Amino acid sequence: MGALDGKRVLLVIGGGIAAYKSLDLIRRLRERGASVRCVLTKGAQEFVTPLAAAALAGQRAHTDLFDRADEADIGHIKLARDADAVVVAPATANTLARMAGGHAPDLASTVLLATTLPILIAPAMNVRMWLHPATQRNLALLRGDGVAVVGPNVGRMAEAETGPGRMAEPDEIADAVEAVLAGSQEAGPPSLAGRHLLVTSGPTHEPIDPVRYLANRSSGKQGHAIAAAAAAAGARVTLVSGPVTLPDPPGVTVLRIETAREMLAAVEAALPADIAVFAAAVADWRPESLGDQKIKKGPDGPPPLRLTENPDILATIARRSDGRPPLVVGFAAETTDVIAHARAKIARKGCDLIVANDVSAETGVMGGDRNSVHLIGRDGTLETWPTMGKDEVARRLVARLAELGPSP
Ligand code: C5P
Repeated sequence: MGALDGKRVLLVIGGGIAAYKSLDLIRRLRERGASVRCVLTKGAQEFVTPLAAAALAGQRAHTDLFDRADEADIGHIKLARDADAVVVAPATANTLARMAGGHAPDLASTVLLATTLPILIAPAMNVRMWLHPATQRNLALLRGDGVAVVGPNVGRMAEAETGPGRMAEPDEIADAVEAVLAGSQEAGPPSLAGRHLLVTSGPTHEPIDPVRYLANRSSGKQGHAIAAAAAAAGARVTLVSGPVTLPDPPGVTVLRIETAREMLAAVEAALPADIAVFAAAVADWRPESLGDQKIKKGPDGPPPLRLTENPDILATIARRSDGRPPLVVGFAAETTDVIAHARAKIARKGCDLIVANDVSAETGVMGGDRNSVHLIGRDGTLETWPTMGKDEVARRLVARLAELGPSP
């Protein structure tokens, strides 16, 4: 039994290089039990052929608004109706603009204007086109219309540039289709307007001497994605980040630190906040001071490395008597008994919500792009989310924070 058994997806393929991934998306959706009917824009046909889409979908693909055979056979209104959800992948800047403006010059845009079904878009475009105010304005309009959005991801693009704009991976899009069809929060526009969100992200580096340090494998991807999603949902966001190689999320104030003690100081300086999300992988211990100079190799063998406890930033903030953010969220990265440990942690740290994830080596979560999380409340309630992209986890979490957090 697939999670999409019996569901009918109308897949609108837009004209971008990511269209090749949409062929794979057809397969992934069908593997999950969905039937897929494709509409290709003219641009899409420069990258993939209707024949390839039809072969993978197992039914003919549609391309023309005024196709006499088509109109007699199915017609654009029927196309817009005979499905359970419409997915636009890749959704180019031009497609977004047409959708936001209600323009309908071709079959794809006509279907999108005529449909009353849930719509999920997977944007894919050049970084600068994505960041352009016009695109962001169109996106805000579409979210306001109830259109669900998956991605884009941050990474290397076809033009050898790096940044947000890569289409979400086929499995992430298929996960989002499931979420949309399950009527999740994602379909609505979560709003954090007027609220200040504080996020910690990345590892900390704890110096051994001026050139060496202790660190961990955290990439900061999840924390940065949360900061980006919160900013996209209208929050004022302060991101306190350890050393990472990620670009700053757009519209976010980033405070860069190296050590746990610096992170605590930056967090305290950034208060007050309405919501604090502690996603950083803070080093629990730091080396006791071994002096200001580089330790030399000598005849006495390796120096003793004595560790001392770092401040627990989450517990310190969650237990403040004054100025505690009304909603404090912690993360629990565990390799065994994930849920049991997370439940114990929520009590020990005094936070309101724990996002628990399994980071054992075989999951590939540490440094990877996907995450499997459980959400655990103070009263012990548990939600388990399907495995999805870190960006998608971030958007869902932000939607929950918008519900749970204080009113502006
Ligand atoms: O105790 P543990 O490291 O498993 O707890 C994880 C949670 O606590 C995360 O939310 C992390 O950001 C936070 N934490 C912290 N300061 C520390 C250690 C962990 O804020 N020194």
